[in-house]
Amino acid sequence: MSTFSTVSLLPGLLNETVTLRGWIRAIRSSGKIRFVEFRDGSGTCQCTVEAIHPEAFAALEHCGQETSLAVTGVVKAEPRSPGGVEVSVTDVSIYQIAEEYPISRKEHGVDFLMQHRHLWLRSPRQEAILRVRHRIISAAREFFDLDGFTLIDTPIFQPGAAEGAGTLFDVDYFGSPAYLAQTGQLYLETAAMAMGKVYCFGPTFRAEKSKTRRHLTEFWMIEPEVAFYELEDLERLSENFLSHIVQSVLQHNRADLEALGRDVSLLETIQAPFPRLTYSEAVELLHNPALHEKLEQELAAEQQRCKELNQSITDLEHQLSQVSKAWKVEKLKKEIQELQDQVKELELWISNQPAHIEDAKSFEWGHDFGGDEETILSKQFERPLIVTEYPKEVKAFYMKENEADPRTVRNLDVLAPEGYGEIIGGSQREDDLDKLLSRMQAEGMDPEPYQWYLDLRRYGSVPHGGFGLGIERTVSWICGLKHIRETIPFPRLMGRMQP
Ligand code: 4AD
Ligand code: MG
Repeated sequence: MSTFSTVSLLPGLLNETVTLRGWIRAIRSSGKIRFVEFRDGSGTCQCTVEAIHPEAFAALEHCGQETSLAVTGVVKAEPRSPGGVEVSVTDVSIYQIAEEYPISRKEHGVDFLMQHRHLWLRSPRQEAILRVRHRIISAAREFFDLDGFTLIDTPIFQPGAAEGAGTLFDVDYFGSPAYLAQTGQLYLETAAMAMGKVYCFGPTFRAEKSKTRRHLTEFWMIEPEVAFYELEDLERLSENFLSHIVQSVLQHNRADLEALGRDVSLLETIQAPFPRLTYSEAVELLHNPALHEKLEQELAAEQQRCKELNQSITDLEHQLSQVSKAWKVEKLKKEIQELQDQVKELELWISNQPAHIEDAKSFEWGHDFGGDEETILSKQFERPLIVTEYPKEVKAFYMKENEADPRTVRNLDVLAPEGYGEIIGGSQREDDLDKLLSRMQAEGMDPEPYQWYLDLRRYGSVPHGGFGLGIERTVSWICGLKHIRETIPFPRLMGRMQP
């Protein structure tokens, strides 16, 4: 009898007989031997089945990709195999034979993969992203747990808006209007007045009518809120928090990052302190001729790279016309497709860049930064950029007015480097009842449903503040992904609710 094991444990079980339960990622036969690329969620290993074990050999005859099975065999050292081991199989027991699995190794379009998201999760790339996501969440919680914060669960059904009425999802709550939470913040503020240091973590909902690579309609946010914290305290908290998350991913998930093709060296530099700019300084930077020159140079370099990629495609197409072996044709076609995708993406970037440069030059103080300005700003720094004190008009009603310049508020956005843009948004909160009421009035808000929130300013009001980190945007940045859709198991986007 052998014991059940998992692929992850095999390196410690050399020469022992084990049984593994999992799925076939790929299978091929070569004469009297079959090679199974076996996966079980903990890892992938090669299993070999020789014809001298006729039952096991025959059992695999009609098994396709994603057939579920148990294999029993001896663990052997095999330097060429991932993990340095393989299993020499003597017994096979099939759970279910899968035929014609829809997702193969050839290139599939994004739409097809999204429709098959329930199966796509089994690919090595998606597994790696899910593991990094898990680590980001556990590191984020660990950071607050170790620092004396108490986890507070805030409601999902809420009576009003916190982040602007324009992105509310309404629900019929037994005949009365209710909305899905855009944030836990307002409730979290009540808990900070009870407990001092608190955080919430949950799903949040925004009816974002924009189809971008940064917006989901359902996303997860972790939000700390601290009594007696002012803007400067929040800046320090945000940089220590992000450094902890990135360092934890580097410590535990280096192999996943490498599998995703992530340039790990860029993450290694993510250590506090982070650079800081006020909004006004950031606007000055957007207007700086030296920045425009740099952006023009970058544009020219990308145009050159595009030319080179096109030349490589021509070369590969020439090779393709000269080969006949099916696997070679397949391989070349895949390479060409990948390069064509790169060119397409690059051409789009190149065609948009002149307009982005013009937008930076003509950006007017008082507007909110859009994705394009955030991209340009965050690309100028190796570490996340903390931008503070935005114009009051473009920010939420609860943000504290800046005494030194009442046109602005005491808020912070943290922009991830490499053009990823905002991953954290937060602020010191308005703790003065009259100021908060007049701000709500200016925004056309009815104070009635917010009396409980206003009570915090009536009974022992203190300076306080917090921020929210978007988990998916953080996964996107840390994994180096091009689109937010792969950062969550089942993304909810403006045009997608299935599966
Ligand atoms: O800047 P936001 O809107 O801030 C708040 O909701 C505050 N109440 C948080 C607080 O102070 N406690 O959102 C915070 C973060 C953003 O920086 C971004 O990472 C993420 O949430 N986020 C989104 N992520 C994906 N899709 C969307 N549509 C997002 N909207 C915001
Ligand atoms: Mg924001």
